Amino acid sequence: MTHQTVLVVDFGGQYTQLIVRRIREFGVYSEMVPWTKAAEIIGARQPDAVILSGGPRSVLEENAPDLDFSVLAGIPTLGICYGQQLMALRLGGQVEKADHREYGARHLQSLTSDALVSGLSSNEVWMSHGDQVLHVPDGFTVTASTESCAVAAFENVAAKQYGVQFHPEVTHTKDGKTVLRRFLFEAVGLAGDWTSDNFIDEQVAAIRETVGPTGKVLCAVSGGVDSSVMAALLIRAIGDRAVCVFIDHGLLRKGEAEQVSETFGNEFAGNLKVFREHDRFFGALKGLTDPEAKRKAVGHAFIQVFEDHAAELQGCDFLAQGTLYPDVIESGSATSAKIKSHHNVGGLPDWMQLKLIEPLRWLFKDEVRNVGRRLGLPEDMVDREPFPGPGLAVRVLGEVTPERVAMTQEADYIFRSELKARGLNKGIWQSYAALLDVRSVGVMGDERTYEQPIVLRAVESEDAMTARAVNLPFDALEVICSLIVNQVKGVNRVFYDLTSKPPATIELE
Ligand code: XMP
Repeated sequence: MTHQTVLVVDFGGQYTQLIVRRIREFGVYSEMVPWTKAAEIIGARQPDAVILSGGPRSVLEENAPDLDFSVLAGIPTLGICYGQQLMALRLGGQVEKADHREYGARHLQSLTSDALVSGLSSNEVWMSHGDQVLHVPDGFTVTASTESCAVAAFENVAAKQYGVQFHPEVTHTKDGKTVLRRFLFEAVGLAGDWTSDNFIDEQVAAIRETVGPTGKVLCAVSGGVDSSVMAALLIRAIGDRAVCVFIDHGLLRKGEAEQVSETFGNEFAGNLKVFREHDRFFGALKGLTDPEAKRKAVGHAFIQVFEDHAAELQGCDFLAQGTLYPDVIESGSATSAKIKSHHNVGGLPDWMQLKLIEPLRWLFKDEVRNVGRRLGLPEDMVDREPFPGPGLAVRVLGEVTPERVAMTQEADYIFRSELKARGLNKGIWQSYAALLDVRSVGVMGDERTYEQPIVLRAVESEDAMTARAVNLPFDALEVICSLIVNQVKGVNRVFYDLTSKPPATIELE
């Protein structure tokens, strides 16, 4: 890659990923590297700057996370918390062990007028540390302290080495962004020109080089954001040598299968193969009610589709996968290329010995959405919520039949259209309708009914690990309930799920 890069060395701090995100928000490319491999990677890549993250350990402990500072020679460096202490220790200063941890907001007192931390618009900073720096190394100046920390910031401008005991990356440090901005642009002199457009240009060039002049790439599109953006990027790079496969299993939301076919069949003029496989998937799900059995059946059906269409896919040399940066971080290595088991295609047959390419592996989700926008994908595709790989098979409880899926799609459409029309969809992580596998009695007109209930679910979440039900206005829910019961045949009650995750999960199955 040709752009300027800031490597963030991860010493195990809880905010390390946030540092990376903040830097990227300034238009500077940043990546996280584990401290165990940092010296090697920094030596090889010679980044434009390095940030040393916080961490839970004490620099004074035996076998504490460490770094050979000789690799940083000539590279501007900012140490944060643990990173600051390590910098002090390794460059000849002194760190003292604390009796207790200091945690929370403190007030920064600036000791000079032209330091990285001088003249901030707020002096409130966030501390979370045990040890602290007692003496700074030769050549360094103490630039700020707080009520409880004498060396809250130091710097050696000539060597372009800076350290802060507090966390500029968290929003509790009210003007932390200024500290990071000054480091990147004033101290290091970076350009801040890493944009979605540059990313696209770079990836287009990289894909062309990897794939070569005749190679073909199999690209499975699910209708979700990641695979759609990936397909659009590949089409931009290699045109119809991006063999886009969309398996229309009949388990998507109302209208989504048509939108995928239209977008990739027409607008992007790619090489789209739509395998309409409703019968196969409904056949595989017939009679199944156990959630795991249903998931397995869907995964297995995906593999069979690839098997059955092998001849058409034979010429592909590569498989494009929509791995994102958080997956890369999670798997612990920036070079890992293992296929995630939760991936939406549900696995590929063993005989398909395809080489992997993962053009989105450097991006966070919101960055992927921006790239999608710049590539010209429709907004409601780019903005799509996470959707489970097995689709509505896990939102239709009990047996999955075409009729029950159609009822769920219709109720889901009503629910989400109404939320959108009322501006209530903003800030929602996921919202959907599910169909329960029970019946209850009702009365419609003069008739007794004995039909199925719909459950509505809308949750707020940061990362799907935890979630909370959205506090939707009762009058909106009442209208939505009435619309669903009146318009969706076979439904006579509507529930709203209030359960958070944990103890529930976001999906019902
Ligand atoms: P749960 O239901 O475990 O879901 O709270 C967490 C998040 O994961 C999504 N999800 C899936 N995504 N394949 C996927 O790609 C799957 O099989 C799958 N199952 C659940 C779910 O929608 C939520 O965002």
